[in-house]
Amino acid sequence: MYNYKTFESEKLEYFPVASLDELRSGERIIFDIGDESIALFNVAGEYFAIADVCSHDDGPVAEGELLDHEIECPRHGARFDLRTGTALSPPAVVDIPAYPVRIEGDQILIGLPLED
Ligand code: FES
Repeated sequence: MYNYKTFESEKLEYFPVASLDELRSGERIIFDIGDESIALFNVAGEYFAIADVCSHDDGPVAEGELLDHEIECPRHGARFDLRTGTALSPPAVVDIPAYPVRIEGDQILIGLPLED
């Protein structure tokens, strides 16, 4: 599982995904990079990126209700921590990927693992 707990910074490539003025506090955007569907959130000026795939049944999770740093899957109600991808409540028991976010100028970048 790839997330904040395990990533090695030298094995990441950063991709610009939005400008700061495209993502205001409380907003989210969902986009694809390659085969990965990723959601980026602005929570009170902090940015977090997770895979838009619920570990319970592979449904999209990012359109769910956001409460502080928690996102609730709209399908069966599992909750995940945006900061780490940690599964917080059933029916999900497996964490989802969370990606590091970096700001450069007015651009928001997310780090993805380099291809082998
Ligand atoms: S698909 Fe997300 S809780 Fe079931």
